[in-house]
Amino acid sequence: MFMRRALSVLSVWVICCAAASGANASTSSSAPPAGSLPLSLLDLMRAAIEVPADGLWATEGADKVTDEDWLLADQDAVQLIAATALVDKGVTSGKNDRKWAANADWQAWLRDMKKTAFALRDAARTKDTTKLATAGDHLQEICAACHAKYRPAEPSDGVARYPFYPKRELVK
Ligand code: HEC
Repeated sequence: MFMRRALSVLSVWVICCAAASGANASTSSSAPPAGSLPLSLLDLMRAAIEVPADGLWATEGADKVTDEDWLLADQDAVQLIAATALVDKGVTSGKNDRKWAANADWQAWLRDMKKTAFALRDAARTKDTTKLATAGDHLQEICAACHAKYRPAEPSDGVARYPFYPKRELVK
């Protein structure tokens, strides 16, 4: 299921962006750098940052956090760390991604987000609700600060749907 979904995201990119990069073929400076992925920042925001962040905020807001909830918060934190590290490497290939990644404040927000995601993981492992709340609130501030400056009014693929993905219901 997960692989199928990941593959369908990839194939959408190949269809939409193969055409766009064809138009730029003569300008070598627009070629993606070595090691870049056929995924956009937007893909990661929607699938790999929003989803675990929502899980962490839901844990933060819960009246009672069970052992299972703490484990899921740990899983969310690891996913957020991984996605943030990938964005921080500047290897995504959305049309504005390289331009954004060159800014010092952009990089500082990503460093802070990585640090905060590690703090969230720590909170989950030690089942520390106070730490989870502090780091969770700070995470929200980081998302808001970067969005206020860089996020365009319309997502760069023009697909306005929120939430982007349906809620996952696993069948046991
Ligand atoms: C370093 C800057 C930065 C940080 C930090 C950041 N974002 Fe983003 N985010 C963006 C940009 C830029 C876009 C728009 C991308 C585009 O349209 O190509 C975006 C888009 C999104 C979208 C897509 C919205 C849509 O229109 O489909 C979601 C969801 C999102 N971000 C969630 C988050 C969450 C949650 C956090 C914090 C946990 C976060 N972002 C942190 C820069 C950031």
